[in-house]
Amino acid sequence: MSDGRPVLVFDSGIGGLTVLREARVLMPERGFIYVADDAGFPYGGWDEEPLKQRIVTLMGDLLERYRPEAVIVACNTAFTLVGADLRAAFHGVPFIGTVPAIKPAAERTRSGLVSVLATPGTVRRAYTRDLIQSFASQCHVRLVGSENLARMAEAYIRGDAVADADILAEIAPCFVEKDGLKTDIVVLACTHYPFLANVFRRLAPWPVDWLDPAEAIARQARRLVPASDMEDHPEEFDRAVFTSGRPDFSTRRLMQGFGMRTV
Ligand code: DGL
Repeated sequence: MSDGRPVLVFDSGIGGLTVLREARVLMPERGFIYVADDAGFPYGGWDEEPLKQRIVTLMGDLLERYRPEAVIVACNTAFTLVGADLRAAFHGVPFIGTVPAIKPAAERTRSGLVSVLATPGTVRRAYTRDLIQSFASQCHVRLVGSENLARMAEAYIRGDAVADADILAEIAPCFVEKDGLKTDIVVLACTHYPFLANVFRRLAPWPVDWLDPAEAIARQARRLVPASDMEDHPEEFDRAVFTSGRPDFSTRRLMQGFGMRTV
């Protein structure tokens, strides 16, 4: 049993909420601090070195300020780049990562045609290539790096209109036909994308399994975060922090819907 320190959930924007909502279900007794590095959003287009430095420095500040029990890095673009650096720099802090769900996709596919929909950063990572080589060498894996989908997901979840044609243009390369076989699994390798899953289903040229790893990440977090003996957590937990310092009204309202006060 422990003293009920909060769990910190980190992303470049509001995509990590797709992981937070699952973590909440499995860790109802815990408070959460949600950190969106919106001043750096989107991470997908950053060069690797400056992004690495930014995240390690920011994480150092956050750990000092909030002393979390564990950190869920709810961002593929960040974790595939700096997961190892974070663990090396901050010994003793459990980091739960988010990486493209290539292994489960390779285990589940029937056609052997799998697509990975991600940011351009995640698609470029050596980490992602290694996952394919280690777990999906028997499959035909198409990596689809989308420049615009994370922004579109943010707009959509805030209630702004996003044109179907624009979304379709981003997901269309995921659909591959080869030797009479078709893609049957698309890995959602950016935590923003599950917000658009219903739109993807409606627009898809044929039905596929859209793999969202959020629940698996939450389960891993539950394994690493001891059940707290506090019945309830302090008021000041369950808050959202934006590195820009000025989230707009629709963002604050969205966070409220997730039970998070914006500070
Ligand atoms: N949510 C982030 C991820 O899982 C990426 C969004 C961005 O480009 O910053 O990769």
